[in-house]
Amino acid sequence: MPNKRSSQSKIKGYCKICRQPTQLIFSFGQKPLANAFLSKPEDQEFFYHLYLVFCPVCQLVQLGDTVPPEKMFNDQYHFISSTSRDMSFHFKKLAFQILKLVSKKAKPFVIEIGSNDGIMLRYLAAKGINHLGVEPAGNVADFSQAYQVNVLKAFFNQATARQIYHQYQQADVIYGANTISHIEDLNSVFAGAQDLLKKDGLLIIEDPYFPDIVRQYSFDQIYDEHVFFFSALAIEKLANRHNFSLVKMESQPVHGGSMRYFLQPGKTRKKDPQVESWLKQEHKLNLDKIEGYHNFSRGIDKLTGDLKTMLYKLKKQKQQIVGYGATAKSATLLNYARIGPEILAYISEITPTKIGKFSPGMHIPIKAHQEFQRDRPPYTLLLAWNHQEEILAKEKKYRAQGGKFIVIFPQVRII
Ligand code: SAH
Ligand code: TMP
Ligand code: ZN
Repeated sequence: MPNKRSSQSKIKGYCKICRQPTQLIFSFGQKPLANAFLSKPEDQEFFYHLYLVFCPVCQLVQLGDTVPPEKMFNDQYHFISSTSRDMSFHFKKLAFQILKLVSKKAKPFVIEIGSNDGIMLRYLAAKGINHLGVEPAGNVADFSQAYQVNVLKAFFNQATARQIYHQYQQADVIYGANTISHIEDLNSVFAGAQDLLKKDGLLIIEDPYFPDIVRQYSFDQIYDEHVFFFSALAIEKLANRHNFSLVKMESQPVHGGSMRYFLQPGKTRKKDPQVESWLKQEHKLNLDKIEGYHNFSRGIDKLTGDLKTMLYKLKKQKQQIVGYGATAKSATLLNYARIGPEILAYISEITPTKIGKFSPGMHIPIKAHQEFQRDRPPYTLLLAWNHQEEILAKEKKYRAQGGKFIVIFPQVRII
């Protein structure tokens, strides 16, 4: 094992929103940071206790132990939104949806929390819409300059909201995709959004939909950066706590099932009947109580066992297996299942900053996609399963030549 420094905590704790005691859903044990790729296998790694809890008051699923945000989101951040063609298209569509929402406003102002490389704001910038991205990872924020996207390199919270309020103006739309769930001080985010939004403004939040994670047992979504796991139940309670109303929800076919929540300031708004039907469905699944999560917890170990059985069997037959996509998610899967370089020869990747490095914890070498194309390994474990459609389309030739993908969720199988 490498030298490790652990964060110390036991399984108990209190909700990050209401400070009431939480209930344990699942513990994965000590895990390395999901995006902490190593230059050398001997590099020192930071470990934290990865476990998931439920607050029965807020009906909010969250990490028990958390990592300081500066350790994860800094100038060496590895996740670059525009590496996925499908996600680029997804955010282009959203930009046009926002454009429509603000087109009749006098002097519209749109803020994005976690704007990354400007994957969405570049379209608003091109249309001359007044906008601001708030992004603490300086290296990725710099990519958005090429598209004339305005970025404030900062963590969004109530203090940043006040700063924006004074330097710019109130906002018509505040939007965050795959980001709001990463921010431990969620109360501060909501308070800041409340200060910063115009009275008729909209707070739009998009994140993986936790009931979809439960349904597919896609437990790899649980790692240090994902502090919260949202459902309609949780978002409605959170909204009400901060004097917002959840007025609309739109499900999105990205990241294995996502949800876009529309929140308006104030309490007296009309809500879309769809919201009630999502809430009803979640109640039916018992997701308002800890009992609703027992089956999910059991499924995690069943799936891990099935995957290891399949991989060991293939290795016994002397088959080469590689991974596809050195995703942050795969850190949870590979470390929990203890799948190392003796099973996965390497992981194929297209992000330049990840290539040549080693995966956190298990130290699997990460190699350029060109190597995968040359090698044509007989079996490939699809770690970037949330981009399955895009990847299968890209790897048509590999599959036509006999290459096989192993997919994991909701059931381990070869395709
Ligand atoms: N919205 C993009 C990026 C998601 S990754 C997409 O959906 O692809 C999460 C991003 O949130 C990272 O770029 C990270 O640096 C940023 N982030 C984390 N904490 C933040 C905070 N408090 N305020 C603003 N951005 C934050
Ligand atoms: P994500 O699951 O967090 O979106 O990360 C996807 C990772 O997979 C990212 O590191 C880029 C990588 N990737 C590839 O290597 N090839 C691909 O075709 C795609 C879509 C992603
Ligand atoms: Zn709570």
